[in-house]
Amino acid sequence: MDAKNTWLQHLLVGFFSLALAFTFNHFLGVAWSTVFARVSFVLLFLTLVIGPVTKLKKPMIVSSPLKLPWSWRGELGIWFTLTSLAHFYFAMSGRPKWNFLAALGGGIGGEGYGLANLLGFIALFWSLILAITSFGGVIRWLGVKSWKWLHTFTYVVFYLVATHSFYFQFFSKYRGGPDFFGYFYLALTLVVIFLQLSAFVKTLASQKKA
Ligand code: HEM
Repeated sequence: MDAKNTWLQHLLVGFFSLALAFTFNHFLGVAWSTVFARVSFVLLFLTLVIGPVTKLKKPMIVSSPLKLPWSWRGELGIWFTLTSLAHFYFAMSGRPKWNFLAALGGGIGGEGYGLANLLGFIALFWSLILAITSFGGVIRWLGVKSWKWLHTFTYVVFYLVATHSFYFQFFSKYRGGPDFFGYFYLALTLVVIFLQLSAFVKTLASQKKA
């Protein structure tokens, strides 16, 4: 995430997110809870790939959030959290009295359903922390080093979200088998792993050379 979130970038990312949500709902007939789940997955993917791609393209530049004013990570990450909250809202409002215990399968039960939702809750908790610390003033207050350490948790959020999504797509009776999006999530997850590994190998190679 970057130190300078601009209104224009927020407007563009917000427009993209809502247009994607409208398309999924209006043209594909997807329910709102799933619509926002899908949009948030795409936004999280985009937030994550910027880091390794930057590293692969410009390895000599220190990727400080204060030196990358053109980055879109702050805006994408904040909109990811907003759409995740919308997904959570629609998923919970389908339950009588917003029953959290039932969402956890009556206490981490429900043939994996409770565990999958627990991962979702943990992901949402960290997403909120990461979104709050994505604003320029907060980054400056934290200092680049602490900010960077905290934001490595974005990968933790990604793997939690991927597992949560794989459960609903591939391992639950909830949806009746994977659809196009199940394979799409799988492909995006493999891209993230590949980019992460490539950036690591490149960093290692340049350190060995120095
Ligand atoms: C950062 C937070 C979260 C993200 C990014 C996220 C994302 C996702 C994704 C990508 C799917 C798969 C949708 C599909 O089949 O295409 C999904 C499904 C689901 N999630 Fe989450 N989730 C989050 C948190 C939560 C929480 C806290 C709950 C708790 C109620 C929850 C409940 C569900 C349920 C019930 C489904 C299956 C039904 C549906 O598609 O809405 N999620 N989520």
